[in-house]
Amino acid sequence: MKKTLGLLLLAACTCAGAVTKTIDLPSDGVFLKPSPLPGYAKAQAQCVACHSAEYMAYQPVNAPRGYWENMVKRMQQVFKAPVNDADMPDIIDYLVKTYGNEQGK
Ligand code: HEC
Repeated sequence: MKKTLGLLLLAACTCAGAVTKTIDLPSDGVFLKPSPLPGYAKAQAQCVACHSAEYMAYQPVNAPRGYWENMVKRMQQVFKAPVNDADMPDIIDYLVKTYGNEQGK
């Protein structure tokens, strides 16, 4: 009698576990935010090879242009990101207007 009850409880527990199971979908931050700015395509080509766009999404929204400039330079010089110097202004412009303090400008 006792054994049967134990099995029943076990079955109930397994069932409850299955119901509360969650699936983690990649958040929206995984991809760069689309933009008509020329830097969008350049950032897609040069900024998300090593990490997802979540790194950009987690930066302070009030970060000014200089902050993003330093960030891109740091990626290039410290982590050897293959960023072309010629593309830097466009990429920085896209970043500060999409993730920094020039949003909506
Ligand atoms: C060669 C690989 C590589 C490329 C390409 C690259 N990054 Fe990174 N990035 C890294 C690494 C490694 C870190 C993690 C540094 C850490 O954990 O301190 C990082 C971190 C970051 C962070 C998080 C903030 C921080 O200070 O750690 C941001 C924002 C960022 N990258 C933006 C960019 C942008 C913008 C570009 C394109 C210009 C870019 N990354 C291209 C390697 C790369």
